[in-house]
Amino acid sequence: MPASPYSQSHTMGLPILRQCALTSSRRTLKVPSPVFLDFLAPSAIGHKQCRNASTATGGEPKPRYVLSKEQREFMDSALRVNQAGELAATLIYTAQTPQIVRSYPHLRPLMKHMYDQEAGHLKTFNGLIQKHQIRPTAMYPAWEVAATFLGWSTAALGREAAMACTEAVETEIGSHYNDQVREILSWEADAARRGEELDDELKEMLATFRRIRDEELEHLDHAVANDSKEAKPYDPLVDVIRFGCRAAIKISEKI
Ligand SMILES: [Fe+2]
Ligand SMILES: [Fe+2]
Repeated sequence: MPASPYSQSHTMGLPILRQCALTSSRRTLKVPSPVFLDFLAPSAIGHKQCRNASTATGGEPKPRYVLSKEQREFMDSALRVNQAGELAATLIYTAQTPQIVRSYPHLRPLMKHMYDQEAGHLKTFNGLIQKHQIRPTAMYPAWEVAATFLGWSTAALGREAAMACTEAVETEIGSHYNDQVREILSWEADAARRGEELDDELKEMLATFRRIRDEELEHLDHAVANDSKEAKPYDPLVDVIRFGCRAAIKISEKI
């Protein structure tokens, strides 16, 4: 009898993703400044500018938009929070799935699909955190316990409560990604006003945030389609989870 509702690749995948994040954590905790993002730092601009600058308009390369300290701090916090959030998402689905598919086997493909996407998101942010030497949240172990408990307890309450958990989490996470997308778009507009352009990697990150936001909102739609609104008691459950998500985001931005 399998220990998990997922295929073997899933049962092996999550520990590997977590190991990657923790290895990254050990490595990055030695970095003295939490706001140094190599590709965004002014010191990295000069020698890369010509190679990366666009030649789309009349062959004239546009100067690179240099992020301020506050903007680099924003990216630092954003990537730290996103990694923590995606870890939590994989753990919620891992804890929910055995109970849900036992009673509702037809939901196995949906739970697997959502887990697969979350594992992909976590892998993306593990890679970015490691690449840009960002300090992962010190709350990582606490979020692991909290997310597993949240997944297990909502699934114990039933399918509707499990789906209400997804609805609540994705509402907060979707809007969180939206805030990040909006912020980077405001930098892009600022760059355009100055006749500059964003670093290619920042543009790529913007596209990644948009794709992941859309996938989170797809999960929200799946939850509503699977009776999240029928959870009892719906309002207190969703309110508490949404409050918890907002608190975890705020804490992970700083700690
Ligand atoms: Fe996700
Ligand atoms: Fe999600």
